[in-house]
Amino acid sequence: MTILADKYPRIADMKKRALKRMPHFAAEYLFSGTGYDRAMDHNQEILKNIFLTPRYLKGTVEANLKTKLFNMEYDAPFGIAPVGMTSLIWPGAEISLAKIANKVNIPYTLSTVACASIESVGKYLDNKGWFQLYPPQDKNIRDDLLKRASDSGYEVLVITSDIPASSRRERLRMAGVSVPPKINLRTIYQAAISPFWSVGVLRHGMPHFATMDKYQKSQGNKKIKKGYAGSQMNRYLDWNYLEEVRKIWKGPIVLKGLMDNRDALKARDYVDAIYLSNHGGRQLDLAPSPLQVLPRIRKDLGNEFPILIDSGFYSGQDVVKGLMLGADFVMIGRPFMIGIAALGSKGAAHAHYIIKDEIENIMEQVCAKNIEDLKKETVNLGKDFFMGSLD
Ligand SMILES: Cc1cc2nc3c(=O)[nH]c(=O)nc-3n(C[C@H](O)[C@H](O)[C@H](O)COP(=O)(O)O)c2cc1C
Repeated sequence: MTILADKYPRIADMKKRALKRMPHFAAEYLFSGTGYDRAMDHNQEILKNIFLTPRYLKGTVEANLKTKLFNMEYDAPFGIAPVGMTSLIWPGAEISLAKIANKVNIPYTLSTVACASIESVGKYLDNKGWFQLYPPQDKNIRDDLLKRASDSGYEVLVITSDIPASSRRERLRMAGVSVPPKINLRTIYQAAISPFWSVGVLRHGMPHFATMDKYQKSQGNKKIKKGYAGSQMNRYLDWNYLEEVRKIWKGPIVLKGLMDNRDALKARDYVDAIYLSNHGGRQLDLAPSPLQVLPRIRKDLGNEFPILIDSGFYSGQDVVKGLMLGADFVMIGRPFMIGIAALGSKGAAHAHYIIKDEIENIMEQVCAKNIEDLKKETVNLGKDFFMGSLD
């Protein structure tokens, strides 16, 4: 790792190389938000304005990042968020990420609309995988997905709630993003000038919704239609639906995408954890940063109920801020994809190394020997931080 760490000491240092290696449509897919990219940009602005006042004279400490969540113990307080069409971003990414996550003992979340199937990825996760469900309208498909995930050893179910309607995704339209990629002069040209990506596609096959294949075919849809995932899923989630899933899924359930404290309070009766997120700024461009709603939700839910968070966390510094404001665990989307697009699977491993090393360094600088200690440090928030009041 030494040489990589000198050349690419931060996630952002890998981005230029990632952009060079990806076709334009894949880069737009990864790096776009929606609307005016306001929510996506705001996620980062908010993070920039959080500070930590150090306290000293506590002697030397060796940081221990081990974090318990449900009945598991992870080696770090962060994991890999679900990213759909992962192999469109970098061919073969799902399996590379699963292997790395398993090796370094952090969770990997496979998306319903990934390009590798539940079964093919499950093999690499040693019964520790997380499966993300976009709730299908057809309950037979839903139940079959849950059975396949459970049979393949996935331990945690993440249900995504923040897509009651598809978002406009203007940049994706302009870039012509689709699955499988459209074959026209423009995309052929973009792929041709991205030879590493194209060779990856030759090796791993054309990106498609591998887990959903089975249902497409059973419905006689040989071709994956544009908008299929959006039209069949996501619009049907309500509290009854959650109750039904609860009866089927035996392991922990995490509800992803909540932002409002009333939803969070209600969710406590239905699931084992909530996961605050604005989908990396890809859904509701008007949404605040999930960090802005976190302190209030933590206060309302008390200290025991697990809260996960994502959206805009690009570094160990960012993860520390999330933990100090009350999250138990931080999930990370684009940074792992930047790593893998820049340097293949060693880049994803490097992204993990960077974030973990940054957290360790901060903990040792503030003499926090474990995550619980770290959470007691004094956090300072910029004046525009809060949405509403904490009362
Ligand atoms: C390209 C891309 C695809 C995504 N696909 C999914 C998905 O299939 N399911 C889901 O729940 N969230 C999905 N998300 C949202 C991520 O799980 C996560 O909430 C978001 O990426 C966090 O923000 P970050 O990328 O700034 O870390 C996707 C995000 C990106 C960037």
